[in-house]
Amino acid sequence: MNSSLSPDQRATLVLKAMTQDEKFRLIRADFGQPSEGRAMPAGALTSAGYVPAIARLGLPALQETDAGLGVAKADKSGGAISLPSGLATAASFDPQIAYAGGAMIGSEARKKGFNVMLVGGVDLERDPRNGRNFEYAGEDPLLAGTIAGNAVRGVQDQKVIATVKHYALNAMETGRNTLSSQIDEPAARDADLLAFEIAIGIGHPGSVMCAYNRYNAVYACENDWLLNAVLKGDWGYPGYVMSDWGAVHSAGKSALAGLDQESAGEVFDPKVFFDQPLRAAIASGEVPQSRVDDMVRRILRSLFAAGIIDHPAKAAPIDFAADGAVAQKAEEAGVVLLRNQHDLLPLSPSLKSMAVIGGHADKGVLSGGGSSVVYPPAGNAVPGLPPDGWPGPRVYQPSAPLAAIARRVLGKVQFNDGRDVAAAAQLASHADVAVVFVEQWDAESFDRPDMTLPDHQDALVAAVAKANPHTVVVLENNGPVNMPWLDQTAAVLESWYPGARGGEAITRLLFGEVLPSGRLPMTWPKDESQLPRPQIPGAGLASIGVPPQGQPADTVDYRIEGADVGYRWFQKKHIEPLFPFGYGLTYTHFGYDKLKAKWADGKLVVAFDVSNRGSRDGTDVPQVYVTLPGENHTRRLAGWRRLTLKKGATLHVEITADPWILAAFDGQRKNWQRPAGSYRIQLGHSATSFEGEANVELPAASFSVRRSRASP
Ligand code: BGC
Repeated sequence: MNSSLSPDQRATLVLKAMTQDEKFRLIRADFGQPSEGRAMPAGALTSAGYVPAIARLGLPALQETDAGLGVAKADKSGGAISLPSGLATAASFDPQIAYAGGAMIGSEARKKGFNVMLVGGVDLERDPRNGRNFEYAGEDPLLAGTIAGNAVRGVQDQKVIATVKHYALNAMETGRNTLSSQIDEPAARDADLLAFEIAIGIGHPGSVMCAYNRYNAVYACENDWLLNAVLKGDWGYPGYVMSDWGAVHSAGKSALAGLDQESAGEVFDPKVFFDQPLRAAIASGEVPQSRVDDMVRRILRSLFAAGIIDHPAKAAPIDFAADGAVAQKAEEAGVVLLRNQHDLLPLSPSLKSMAVIGGHADKGVLSGGGSSVVYPPAGNAVPGLPPDGWPGPRVYQPSAPLAAIARRVLGKVQFNDGRDVAAAAQLASHADVAVVFVEQWDAESFDRPDMTLPDHQDALVAAVAKANPHTVVVLENNGPVNMPWLDQTAAVLESWYPGARGGEAITRLLFGEVLPSGRLPMTWPKDESQLPRPQIPGAGLASIGVPPQGQPADTVDYRIEGADVGYRWFQKKHIEPLFPFGYGLTYTHFGYDKLKAKWADGKLVVAFDVSNRGSRDGTDVPQVYVTLPGENHTRRLAGWRRLTLKKGATLHVEITADPWILAAFDGQRKNWQRPAGSYRIQLGHSATSFEGEANVELPAASFSVRRSRASP
């Protein structure tokens, strides 16, 4: 308990005092809830994972809870506040929003008695149909890593260990327990692994979760290259690696590869590997005792570093109103205005009549499903929708857009649930404005086979838009979907899964009480044919009426696009998406000029003026893209700034390009190379729309993998 010693010193002292049985108790967690006839372990909190306390040593129990959007499965303890999708937070392009969200959910976790939170999803979006995109932070490594890293920082500042996951390349759900993600080292280092490296470098998470899938044929949780060579070796990561739930396939091999803690093996793995089988591997000499000691030291070190030993979690009341305000702000900053013909938005409260249609907008807003779903304190606003079992339930946050709209509009507001298309169109035809809420429930454990909205919602929107030219569509979904009706609509808002106070946030944006400022954290394809892999064999979920076609594949070939994920793929292939990465409208417009880029003191600094050229105040996100010299390079986001400007105002801005984006991984030399030559700088409103360009000469440099940004 001598807090003047470092976490490493303290961990080493505790380790010395531990018996072998105590060590073995720390390197595996039990499932923290009852399951399949098993009782809940005494002392657990009905959650994802539990390691009993070791009272003799003053070690508290490890109470692990999901996940990135809030304290999941908290129904037994009064519910919790859900943030909007990780994609909404990423769309804010605002590290402070990410931090505030992390701090809010971390504080709720702590007040509920948890000290480990499985938060920090940073797998890159390589396909809009991936069922878990909403838990992550989009397709760009710098943006995703920055957002996830700041969320982790927020959580850990509450004295709760965060867990960056799912390491690595768990980029789709179909066949995830066996699927092998095939990728070359330079591509992984420049894209997916870079996102992890950045998140870990910013957030210093106490743990990292290895993924279900195989990585180049070897299971992620027994992948010596991923865990030992890259994470712990190159990046110098000092914390512990915990497995995903059911991701362990061996004792000795996993232990030697760098896995430090097995999660809920008694329920999800073929057997508990990190008990008898690992003891046997030690007895036979396959695994040295020093490896087990290293596992324990790493876990203890993270407990000390996060402040859990000095400040144990204590139950405390939660201020749901204050926490809801944090979720609302994240949503307000993350909604993306995709279309706004003739400035239909913002709406005026003095409308005489308004039709609100579909999407259960009379009850609440949709959440994504699976282990991350957060139960609202007031309960699920629309219980009983399919699926009956996992990855359900389908949860709606009780924040009804209809009520929020009705509170503002002076005229008549009428609702139609959208099931009868003709009746909905009829209602719309008599209204000044029609707002249609469309929804798509996606969840952990499955991907969509295509980008089509379910339940005849395309027909609904088309009919309403035909009946009323002032039709606004609000999407509540995981991300890009086909919108065959787009040209018929007046306005479209992407609200993601909007979180605990989504109805209020969406309404405030519709009426201009807050101005849209979100930018797409992924490219929005026109359709599936534009994707690197137009089909996902075996994608779907029968229990929601989307039966999988064919068998899941054994492998997924990410060498097709390599590091050219998202906007870089579209550039390389010379294809136009529907909406580019970084795109988003607001109720004013911005212009850039006087761009100057210079290389000085080892930094690439891009300076320019931003002007608000419209008639309202607003928030803009100028983006700096850099193309390395040489052939075959696509542009990369190297920096951005989120800023708010009064109408007519101009601001001088300087953005320093991220130094790692200026280098590319060299597979032969096994280091990062920044080639000498002319670097093309483009100042973007998005990844495809530029206002200002410059070329700057940079000298050559190389960076060792061991001088990584993720090193402590
Ligand atoms: C998910 C993890 C989650 C864990 C514990 C797994 O199914 O992949 O993200 O943290 O369950 O619930």
